[in-house]
Amino acid sequence: KKRVGILTSGGDCPGLNATIRGAAKALYQRMGDKVEIVGIMNGYDGLINGNYRDMDPSEFSGILTVGGTILGTKRTPFKKMRVVEEDKVDKVAAMKKTYKEAKLDCLLCLGGNGTHKTANLLSQEGLNIIGLPKTIDNDIYGTDVTFGFHTAVDIATEVIDRIHTTAGSHSRVMCIEIMGNKAGWLTLYSGIAGGADIILIPEHPYDIDKVAAAVEKRAKAGKNFSILAVAEGALSTAEAKMKRKEWTAKRAEAGYTTATNRIAMQVQQMTGAETRICVPGHMQRGGSPSAYDRVLATQFGSYAASLVADEHYGVTVAMVNRHVTSNPLIDIAGKTRGVPDDCDMLNVARSMGISLG
Ligand code: F6P
Repeated sequence: KKRVGILTSGGDCPGLNATIRGAAKALYQRMGDKVEIVGIMNGYDGLINGNYRDMDPSEFSGILTVGGTILGTKRTPFKKMRVVEEDKVDKVAAMKKTYKEAKLDCLLCLGGNGTHKTANLLSQEGLNIIGLPKTIDNDIYGTDVTFGFHTAVDIATEVIDRIHTTAGSHSRVMCIEIMGNKAGWLTLYSGIAGGADIILIPEHPYDIDKVAAAVEKRAKAGKNFSILAVAEGALSTAEAKMKRKEWTAKRAEAGYTTATNRIAMQVQQMTGAETRICVPGHMQRGGSPSAYDRVLATQFGSYAASLVADEHYGVTVAMVNRHVTSNPLIDIAGKTRGVPDDCDMLNVARSMGISLG
């Protein structure tokens, strides 16, 4: 019998359960009672602390549409990964021990960049690992898309849609903070889908004068409101030249807690327009996956099952040019995929007259 472990790690997102289900159903289809699935609880934490259990096939039914993760999740298992080497060594040893104790033949790790870093580490330690790329940020290297992203785009788009009517009624400038600390994919896509007037993303530092000018240009054209889609991690051109610590301190000193906060106040001061902030926050990660993500999650889960059957380990599932494939973990771990300067979508935004600051 083949014993396949599954864990979900890092921030949750819609489509985790659909992927777990996709992998499980495809494994049972292929191997019948020759496969046993072991659920590792709360990400790598469960692997460190021996928190796992054999799962019943019935547990994978009825979860396609369910948000979150039936396995629970946790952020990085390591204390400041690069700093506390001893902590890392101890925890890797504990994870290897649990893997052995649970008699696993392989382990599916569903997660984002941090998860893939650890997955690669375990793979280098000789464990049979398969990664599956999840995140609403869409920033995993080597795949064109991650599951969870398009659902989050749908949710953020609905927020922008709804903000339009209240912005128009009150003649206000509305700044919507979209998730994405390092990557602007979600802000860019939902900004375009929602018809935002200004889109600010971390990869493309903004000039506040240009942002204010874009608001004023609209006002002069007779538009009584403006919508700004601002990524959590948006940076001004000055901030982009500083270290994180430095700009965080400068923002705090000036009384701003977030980029959105700062941008909204500055735009209000510079243009005289009344501004408001909207933070949909974790709503963007909650609830049922969209049809797109259900399909993607099922494709990815099914492909992971074929990798298990072929005993093809040390890889992560990816979508490349509309084909599901896999990348070696070692090639993608520690890398991220932000919005590149030559991204088509940036040009599409510009061609719509959207200001990128
Ligand atoms: O990585 C997904 C994400 O939602 C980011 O967009 C966001 O910056 C971060 O997680 C929030 O993390 P947490 O849920 O730990 O507050």
